Amino acid sequence: MSGLFITLEGPEGAGKSTNREYLAARLREQGLDVVLTREPGGTPLAEKIRELLLSPSDEVMHADTELLLVFAARAQHLAQVIRPALAGGAVVLCDRFTDATYAYQGGGRSLPVERIATLEQFVQDDLRPDLTLVFDLPVEVGLARAAARGRLDRFEQEGQAFFEAVRRAYLDRAAAAPQRYTLLDASQPLADVQQALDRLLPGIVERCRD
Ligand SMILES: Nc1ncnc2c1ncn2[C@@H]1O[C@H](COP(=O)(O)OP(=O)(O)O)[C@@H](O)[C@H]1O
Ligand SMILES: [Mg+2]
Repeated sequence: MSGLFITLEGPEGAGKSTNREYLAARLREQGLDVVLTREPGGTPLAEKIRELLLSPSDEVMHADTELLLVFAARAQHLAQVIRPALAGGAVVLCDRFTDATYAYQGGGRSLPVERIATLEQFVQDDLRPDLTLVFDLPVEVGLARAAARGRLDRFEQEGQAFFEAVRRAYLDRAAAAPQRYTLLDASQPLADVQQALDRLLPGIVERCRD
């Protein structure tokens, strides 16, 4: 069995965490070894960097600082968790990864895509997700779901235009490489989203058994 690297992407409130648990349960039923993780974070040190990234602060964080912190956390996460898990043959289900950097720091913060691509290559070498699930939904719907969760983090405090740019970046990336991305309509009822995931299961299991 070879490992498989699956990432879950989309804005706040899209259902990434909910469906990551669902997918993990379905894959474990098939006897697969599943590792659940998230970004930014996934190791104690990377979770400290997450705190820096998400905590609202009086000092405005420079967009380049934000970008470098995201990739610093990712380097740690790859070394400690993702690469060892894949080498051991696990399915890694990661809640956000580098597509989120293209969406938030590229789309949302308008940082040049080339700068992100340079860091991606530096930190990841040739490692890219095997499959990326993009949970897409109208910005207002996601923000309403996130707001219902409680206190807003530094990103959730951004406005409509920021999240429209995030959504656009995700959709553009998915459209540019349809073989890697699966777009899911996350505005549907949860049961319908999970039915769509069920339809992906045989393909995922088959790829793991290759
Ligand atoms: N398809 C859906 N329809 C309605 N509510 C949903 C749906 N998917 C998730 N939710 C709810 O929206 C909230 C945010 O979901 P969550 O999985 O935490 O999103 P994310 O991790 O993408 O921010 C949770 O309260 C969850 O129960
Ligand atoms: Mg979540």
